[in-house]
Amino acid sequence: MPSLKDSVNKSAVPRHIAVIMDGNGRWAKKRGLPRADGHRKGALVIETLMDAAMDLSVGCVSLYAFSTENWSRPSTEINALWELLCSFFAEKLPVMHKKGIRVYHSGSKKRLPARVCSVIDKAVKQTAGNKGLKMNFCLNYGSRQEIVDAVNNWSAKAGPGEKFTQKKMAQNLYASDLPDVDLLIRTSGECRISNYLLWQCAYAEFIFLKVLWPDFKPSHLYRAVIEFQKRNRRFGGL
Ligand code: IPE
Ligand code: IPE
Ligand code: MG
Repeated sequence: MPSLKDSVNKSAVPRHIAVIMDGNGRWAKKRGLPRADGHRKGALVIETLMDAAMDLSVGCVSLYAFSTENWSRPSTEINALWELLCSFFAEKLPVMHKKGIRVYHSGSKKRLPARVCSVIDKAVKQTAGNKGLKMNFCLNYGSRQEIVDAVNNWSAKAGPGEKFTQKKMAQNLYASDLPDVDLLIRTSGECRISNYLLWQCAYAEFIFLKVLWPDFKPSHLYRAVIEFQKRNRRFGGL
């Protein structure tokens, strides 16, 4: 019997997988633990996902870590998330760098605490020359804001009478050198996009999994990619 990983067709792997890591709070609640414990366990799964994506030679993974709407949560939870993010990068940046991973950030820096900005800037800068997996951390990310920022960014440089185009839109997104999303995976059973990569997901395949993010295993990724490979993508054609 071939392993699940071996059942993936290596010549038709999605170039860009976007992940909505959802369900940390419910994972903790089920165990009578504080929500922050769910986030902590969830952060540990990121490395598992990176390794599994590298095993399949996926080009790029986008991770939804904090949305522009997540500011409506209690400040204790928000602060715990920033602490976790800083300790994640303190521990994992050298590991990611060694593995040749290139870190990207998508999101607005405006409201991010200064220490979070400097951690993210350092990771992006240090790994800028790496040629391996592209890991796009979406932090203080909202797709509607990204679109507004892209238009403003373009219009600040545009010449008189210059027309806006789809190409210019794509060139002004936060991580403009990443390809469109091929496969979007959301955990926790919620079947919605929650303001994530609306432009980039125009022709993405969507897979919604029941598993809560802290319980996500490489096998979930392999199964999702196998399911993706069974889909018939027509892009409006026949
Ligand atoms: C996703 O898990 C992580 C973040 C939004 C930061 P949640 O915190 O949304 O977990 P649930 O959906 O409440 O279970
Ligand atoms: C989406 O999850 C954002 C992240 C995973 C970072 P949410 O838990 O915030 O989304 P909703 O509120 O269920 O739509
Ligand atoms: Mg949630």
